[in-house]
Amino acid sequence: MTVHFIGAGPGAADLITLRGRDLIAACPVCLYAGSLVPEALLAHCPPGARVVNTASLSLDDIIAEIVAAHAAGHDVARLHSGDLSVWSAMGEQLRRLRALDIPYDITPGVPAFAAAAAVLGAELTLPGVAQSLVLTRTSGRASAMPEGESLENFARTGATLAIHLSVHVLGDVQARLIPHYGADCPVAVVFRASWPDQRVVRATLATLDASIGDGERTALILVGRALAASDFDESRLYAGDYDRRYRPVGTAPRFPEGHE
Ligand SMILES: C[S@@+](CC[C@H](N)C(=O)[O-])C[C@H]1O[C@@H](n2cnc3c(N)ncnc32)[C@H](O)[C@@H]1O
Repeated sequence: MTVHFIGAGPGAADLITLRGRDLIAACPVCLYAGSLVPEALLAHCPPGARVVNTASLSLDDIIAEIVAAHAAGHDVARLHSGDLSVWSAMGEQLRRLRALDIPYDITPGVPAFAAAAAVLGAELTLPGVAQSLVLTRTSGRASAMPEGESLENFARTGATLAIHLSVHVLGDVQARLIPHYGADCPVAVVFRASWPDQRVVRATLATLDASIGDGERTALILVGRALAASDFDESRLYAGDYDRRYRPVGTAPRFPEGHE
């Protein structure tokens, strides 16, 4: 018996890996994390599967479901939205499973930031503009930010920011970032990326209407010069005169053919 943690992707039912889909189809128990996991994915569960929405359960309740499946020898598909490596509450479940000696594995998923970038048609790391992406959030009721992980500290680097779980405090985010990125810095808010009702608002840090965050909470705030840059360097990797291992150039290539 194994608990398969599966990244369910950002919303569109076909943005799941083949491995994730096949594991759902093979498990007689499916625990899924509420409304951010598309219901259509549950159609992959085998007939008669026990399918449980864990949105209203405590961690103890969830572990009790897993322990019962373990006792019955039933594999479990455990679905969380996006990828499991960020804000999935997987860490605390893994710790309990390790203590109980219950086997598990992890299948990654498409994270929300990647779905949002796709909606925007944007590369978030452009040569000479931004070469880092910070996945972050602001303090919430359930999780305070560790000291040092402030928006201001990340903003000082000029990296592209992907700010999660924060659209309801948009005005505060704008006020904290403007001193670092400048009032004219591009910002995009992507609501429900890849869902049928996805929506994009583009503006600058100064012109963004903070009230757009009053309703729908499933949104990502992307900030940085890379979002609207058209005047950036081309990557050296594909430059015609760039001598590299897989495309030697010139009479004395750095990596002669056949040598790694
Ligand atoms: C609990 S976190 C889950 C993150 C997820 N594990 C991931 O890999 O992206 C939920 C937050 O992620 C963002 N999010 C999740 N799905 C999204 C989507 N389809 N479009 C925009 N933002 C999304 C929102 O900021 C939302 O408040």
